[in-house]
Amino acid sequence: MALKANQNWWKTLFDEIYLLTDARSVCDESITRREINIILDLIPIKPEHRILDLCGGHGRHSIELCSRGFSDCTLVDYSKPLIDCAKEQIAERCLSIHTIRSDARFTGLSEETFDHVLILGNSLGYTQIAEADRLILSEAFRVLRSGGWVLVDVTDGTAVKETFTPRSWHEIGEDIVVCRYRELSETGVVAREVVLDKKKGLIRDQTYVLRLYDARNLSELIHSAGFEKIRVHTDFVPHESKDDYGFMNRRIITTAQKP
Ligand SMILES: C[S@@+](CC[C@H](N)C(=O)[O-])C[C@H]1O[C@@H](n2cnc3c(N)ncnc32)[C@H](O)[C@@H]1O
Repeated sequence: MALKANQNWWKTLFDEIYLLTDARSVCDESITRREINIILDLIPIKPEHRILDLCGGHGRHSIELCSRGFSDCTLVDYSKPLIDCAKEQIAERCLSIHTIRSDARFTGLSEETFDHVLILGNSLGYTQIAEADRLILSEAFRVLRSGGWVLVDVTDGTAVKETFTPRSWHEIGEDIVVCRYRELSETGVVAREVVLDKKKGLIRDQTYVLRLYDARNLSELIHSAGFEKIRVHTDFVPHESKDDYGFMNRRIITTAQKP
């Protein structure tokens, strides 16, 4: 069966159900802490720096950074449910993080405002139009000050192809079963996700596509947005077990600087 995704799938998939299906990666505070430890090793972030968490979802990285004393964080994401979830958690923890619901390609933020832009947790590659990711990186470039850093963390496309698994399933708690069917395409992966709630029945049946990056084409993309001093780290594995975590198992982290 050839799977087909709606072009705008990413505008609706990132909701409360995503926070269940991907909970093992994005709602596990020990993993977020590990990711932030790596980020702090790779780019020179100081507590007083202005940090933009672009495509930051429900704000887990901003919240962790802010809790560690990096207090000038701005979170941008397109998803209303995730921004609402972030606002709730920020209020519960009495933190101060600026949250903006916006398309990352056109944030409306002032230029040269930030010291660092972080694009984390596999947030690129969601449209079939290659240009869309370049626009996100160009926006990162525009809002960074000269000398500022971008850090991009995406799934390692080479690893996905080498260990390709067409079917996977996992359970969340007592009631939720997540089944994924995948096909490799010319530029990446198409996946159908079916989620069953044992009490409510089918709660999701959606197909999505992901453009895959390897060290070379990710560096080229970042370079095309104007960045220099590009460094690629290809063996980032945040999970301790070898289970199938969708696209979160093995990731490439790339850092680059605005001249
Ligand atoms: C896999 S989630 C990762 C979220 C977060 N960075 C994390 O690690 O928890 C990808 C996020 O990218 C956001 N996203 C993708 N494309 C976007 C765009 N063009 N503008 C704003 N947000 C976008 C989605 O809404 C989603 O929250």
